[in-house]
Amino acid sequence: MTFKAVITIAILAAVAIGGRMYVTGFSGAKIASPDARTSDEPMVKVSLPTLTAEQTKGESLFNQKCAVCHAKNAAGQPGVAPPLVFKIYQPRHHADMAFVLAAKNGVRSHHWTFGNMPPIDGVTDDEVKLIVAYIRALQRENGIN
Ligand code: HEC
Repeated sequence: MTFKAVITIAILAAVAIGGRMYVTGFSGAKIASPDARTSDEPMVKVSLPTLTAEQTKGESLFNQKCAVCHAKNAAGQPGVAPPLVFKIYQPRHHADMAFVLAAKNGVRSHHWTFGNMPPIDGVTDDEVKLIVAYIRALQRENGIN
């Protein structure tokens, strides 16, 4: 094999690998729009309910511990984490315990292509239950029951 052939193969391999990353990277969330990755817009539009005192506590905990990825109002962040105000996270499909376990153990990526959610430090089960009360209020206000 000539030196030129080796270089050509190396370049082709690099292009193939780079292209793959480009495609998987830009596919972002399977359910999101194709340009979601490059947009700062929240992934879903969330109507805001009036919150009870308990749900307001949950909101503040959510903003401290979860919003960095799931975004304000759990509307989802392109390229980072899915909206939790979303049909697949309705109580029938993801019971309250799924939230407690997600915070405690993290989540292996399965519904989307964002990658795994790490375990979240510094949040107790009782605090996650307040967060769930808040998320459920958001879900109900947006027709997810
Ligand atoms: C570092 C980013 C990050 C943080 C912080 C984060 N999440 Fe997640 N979360 C993700 C990603 C990414 C997924 C999607 C995994 C998948 O593909 O299904 C996810 C999924 C979930 C799910 C779905 C679990 C399942 O069983 O499918 C729940 C519930 C959840 N997160 C709750 C929370 C709560 C509550 C907090 C705050 C205590 C939180 N997340 C903080 C990134 C994050």
